[in-house]
Amino acid sequence: MRSRGAGGQGGGGDTRPIHTAPLLVTGAAGKTGLAVIRALAKRQTAVRALIRRESQRESVMAAGASSVVVGDMMKTAVYYQAAANCRAIYHICPNMHPDEIENGRVAIAAAQAAAVQQFVYHSVMHPHIEAMPHHWRKMRVEELLFASGLPCTILQPAAYMQNISASWPQITGNGIYRGLYRVPYAITAPFTLVDLHDVAQAAATVLCEDGHIGGIYELAGAERLTPAQMAAAMEQQLSQSVRAEQVIVPPDTPKPLRQMFDYYDQHGFVGGGWVLAHLLKRPSTSFASFLRRLKNNS
Ligand SMILES: NC(=O)c1ccc[n+]([C@@H]2O[C@H](COP(=O)([O-])OP(=O)(O)OC[C@H]3O[C@@H](n4cnc5c(N)ncnc54)[C@H](OP(=O)(O)O)[C@@H]3O)[C@@H](O)[C@H]2O)c1
Repeated sequence: MRSRGAGGQGGGGDTRPIHTAPLLVTGAAGKTGLAVIRALAKRQTAVRALIRRESQRESVMAAGASSVVVGDMMKTAVYYQAAANCRAIYHICPNMHPDEIENGRVAIAAAQAAAVQQFVYHSVMHPHIEAMPHHWRKMRVEELLFASGLPCTILQPAAYMQNISASWPQITGNGIYRGLYRVPYAITAPFTLVDLHDVAQAAATVLCEDGHIGGIYELAGAERLTPAQMAAAMEQQLSQSVRAEQVIVPPDTPKPLRQMFDYYDQHGFVGGGWVLAHLLKRPSTSFASFLRRLKNNS
């Protein structure tokens, strides 16, 4: 465990902040940002949240942030202000952002100006897939990080189990899609979905424990499941019939999403679960456990 502040005893019962200098989380009010803040709060780490809108302040504070900067993280001045006096940065770029590379440059420059001890980049599993430009852009940011000389760690999560939450009300409701898990790709395509809570816990581990500078960690769940198998798992949880169905991608779907669905259709999205389990020091969350939680919370 990284050293505690002056006078810290290092025991499990010591609840004082480990560091007085805060750790910056960007994209903080999004689903990833909030999960990471909650995981860091469990480690009594001071977190500064960079949010876009004042209305997001309450949610990040409730998650455990100790301070907030409001502004556009694409803007250099905002990022510099947010990074000032931080010991580390957990950089989350908004999902599928066309300017992710430029935003990466801004983040790296701000991290260098603030002389942070660690820069952790929330990348994606298989960033080198050219057929998915939002992945490819993350690979370019990783490349910028290598050249920056910053002490960095890169996390590469698989697709989140939580992405299913959006379809849950339809699957469990009484509408025409009751019992249908509808996906815009083959229902036989394999995935190793990861629980966002596990990703957040891994993020807190690499930020609060020693030995992770220079690491690039693929964070995938341990199970390889197709949408058809996911539907079967839902059926078991819900005691109602559920089946997976491939739907046509609506024509107004943004191009990057369409490209992702095409890729998923042909190849699925599969990684290895070993690294995540080792970071968590326990088995990663199973799909059945995730569904149980989803069912109990809905
Ligand atoms: N979803 C997955 O399965 C998955 C898997 C692996 C990696 N990832 C990566 O995880 C990252 C975060 O994804 P997410 O789904 O958590 O994102 P999200 O929920 O869409 O959150 C993005 C956050 O960034 C904020 N934001 C957007 N533009 C901003 C700006 N210019 N300045 C400041 N804040 C801004 C958004 O605020 P507003 O609400 O105001 O827009 C929102 O709070 C992405 O880079 C994604 O590629 C996702």
